[in-house]
Amino acid sequence: MIANTIERKITVPGPRVSPLFGHITQVLNFVGDSIKLSSQLFEKYGSVVALAEGGGTNVYSPYPNCPGTVLAKGADIIREVTSQHDIYHKCPLTGHIYRKRNNSTRTQPFRHFLVGLFGVNGADHRQHRQLLMPAFHKSRIEAYRDEMVVITESELEKLQVGEVIDTLELMRRLTMRIATKTLFGMDFSENGGRFATLLKEVFGKFASPEVLGLPFDIPGFPYHKLLNGMVELDSTMRGIIQQKRNGIDKGDVLSMLIQARDAETGVTLTDDELLGHLGVIYAAGHDTSANALTWTLFLLSQHPQVAADLLDELDGVLHGVAPSIEQLQQLPLLERVIKESMRVLSPVPWNGRVISQDTTFSGYDLPKGTEVFVSIYHTNRAPEIYSEPERFIPQRWEQIQPSIYEYNPFSAGSRVCIGAGFAMMEIKIILAMLLMRYRLEFLPQQVNAKGLIVLCAENGLSMRVCEQDREFNRGLGGVSGNVRQMVKFPD
Ligand code: HEM
Repeated sequence: MIANTIERKITVPGPRVSPLFGHITQVLNFVGDSIKLSSQLFEKYGSVVALAEGGGTNVYSPYPNCPGTVLAKGADIIREVTSQHDIYHKCPLTGHIYRKRNNSTRTQPFRHFLVGLFGVNGADHRQHRQLLMPAFHKSRIEAYRDEMVVITESELEKLQVGEVIDTLELMRRLTMRIATKTLFGMDFSENGGRFATLLKEVFGKFASPEVLGLPFDIPGFPYHKLLNGMVELDSTMRGIIQQKRNGIDKGDVLSMLIQARDAETGVTLTDDELLGHLGVIYAAGHDTSANALTWTLFLLSQHPQVAADLLDELDGVLHGVAPSIEQLQQLPLLERVIKESMRVLSPVPWNGRVISQDTTFSGYDLPKGTEVFVSIYHTNRAPEIYSEPERFIPQRWEQIQPSIYEYNPFSAGSRVCIGAGFAMMEIKIILAMLLMRYRLEFLPQQVNAKGLIVLCAENGLSMRVCEQDREFNRGLGGVSGNVRQMVKFPD
């Protein structure tokens, strides 16, 4: 037993932590502010580092005696991990909830919830990905353009000039409405109905420190509230699937997935699998885009020349009208602004993997069950590729063409984001329509970028809605918070 424990130790260098609460403290610090902690560790120990010396930490590995957590960065490491899919497994994001109380009927929905593509590997992943691909085909995605425009227009219509809004909240509302409309064919969130509240409650809380730290199914505890929400969400979603099974294809993702059939075996997706896929697509597809949009609007508010040039381009091509599919290809600066924003503040900062067999990783022997978090955020800031990496310079994209391993906000390899085309189209449409109509003025505040799954504006982002008056110098400065350590602003 002891020999086994010693054998399973990891030898990657890392900080020595107290034997009593050191491991759990490291995990909570990493979940709470993954970029701050990892930046410190990379600086001290190099590109491959353990969250704790000798291991003993477990952030999301389903292996109860997970040997430890390794953090790494760099294009070579991204290549190593994303191209050896059968060694570096991805695990369901909610494994921690199901694992903790797997004999309770109340945790049963977490067996399939958020399993989807995140919870399958090897041949199963290939099969499921193939079944999902048609729903994300270019022609299918382009058919969502009109719905994206209608929803964006209806949200922009509600804004009042002079009011102060939480930009993240607006972007979440927008991307949530677009996600539910395109996924389920219904605009559930328009009037903030029960389904929208449930989605927010469950998706916003399942990976929160209070749920991870206090997993007690006792009234009053956040974990108990999460389970209540999950049980209700599960039965609502089953009802929707049943309705769709009896109906016709309305062009939404769910209708498409219900019809999906494996070409060789004829196998179709079960209700549990459908729930898993819908949860993952919804989770992966709305908060990511909402934060990418929020970070882009924030960066534009602090770079007046870029904002002015971008508006010139939008007005010149679109003349105040929402972009058509063809016009989306004629906006090179918009494309560069989004690429640069996702480089500087990568909406998904990590690729999280669990090792399925003993392996050698970057020269270290790692035992099966070890978790490896590869930093997209730090890799996208390699100074040998991006001069002044902490500056927001969209023009740099005129000169550079990094490989998929050097720039990968949507990851790489066979697990590359299936919704990348969808996300780019959605972000471009929303930004173009918003910026031609309004100028969002930054108000002095603390801006904190935190998170493990999504790099999120922790306290939202307050901005004043102004007519698009081209007064881009208004709202400059006044930025405090941890984002100042992540971005170098113009003097
Ligand atoms: C700016 C927006 C987005 C960003 C930055 C982003 C980023 C990523 C990244 C980095 C991964 C790989 C994660 C990993 O392997 O550890 C991923 C996977 C995934 N994304 Fe996205 N994503 C975005 C939007 C979307 C949208 C809009 C959808 C769906 C409508 C979506 C659906 C998915 C799915 C289903 C996967 C799992 C793929 C697989 O494992 O085969 N994402 N995304």
